[in-house]
Amino acid sequence: MNYVEVPRHVAIIMDGNGRWAKKKGLRRREGHLEGSKTLEKLALYAADKNIKCLSVYAFSTDNFKRSADEVNFLMDLFVKIFKTKLNKVIEAGVKIVFSGSEDNLPEEVIEAMKIICDKTKNNDKTILNVCLNYGGQEEIVEAAKKVAELYKNGKLNLEELDKVNFGRYLYQDLPPIDLLIRTSGEMRVSNFMLYQMSYAEFYFTNVCFPDFDEREFDKALDDYANRDRKFGKVKERE
Ligand code: IPE
Ligand code: IPE
Ligand code: MG
Repeated sequence: MNYVEVPRHVAIIMDGNGRWAKKKGLRRREGHLEGSKTLEKLALYAADKNIKCLSVYAFSTDNFKRSADEVNFLMDLFVKIFKTKLNKVIEAGVKIVFSGSEDNLPEEVIEAMKIICDKTKNNDKTILNVCLNYGGQEEIVEAAKKVAELYKNGKLNLEELDKVNFGRYLYQDLPPIDLLIRTSGEMRVSNFMLYQMSYAEFYFTNVCFPDFDEREFDKALDDYANRDRKFGKVKERE
């Protein structure tokens, strides 16, 4: 399929793994496992579609409020994915970067993140930005602190700071989000990429993340292609 307009930056709130599992009479962890396979498929598909940047919400700062059992399972799963499961994605030219805080993350996770970043740093087909131990408000506060520190040391001219170059102080300096997808029927943003989604088009679907395959992704892209993005101006189509 040829899209009128391919979004440059797609962001996905990968939600509903637990409910997917529950509906099938499985444990929540089976949902996370299946979700990780879906992520691999979507990253490959995004590269194929020439989407330059795919951000995914893998674990929020608030997800530490879940049971130790679930948190530990997810941390182990992250290590496994980064160490062994993303080979096809890496071969497809995907560069993997992370957004989030290292605070409270197990050493093995931090280590696996560093290795995969290093391994893919020269890839340039698509950026896969994995938001892990991520919070949107935290990201903005951290950025404000970096700015304050530079200003204090005389290394930043406040006159030159604007909404575009402020991106340098965020976890990753990425283009604005064009399309934000949330699976599983929830209609909220749950502290995800608040700065970057200022003019994003939102796409909500009842499909739980493990079932959000290439076909479902296509539906979201089709929907996006038919939106009128106005950025405050008067409608241009017509
Ligand atoms: C999303 O699925 C994955 C993470 C938050 C890590 P959930 O685990 O939130 O699944 P539901 O919302 O309970 O169905
Ligand atoms: C958001 O999903 C976080 C991720 C998808 C990683 P949650 O399931 O944690 O969000 P809430 O609690 O329903 O808002
Ligand atoms: Mg959820």
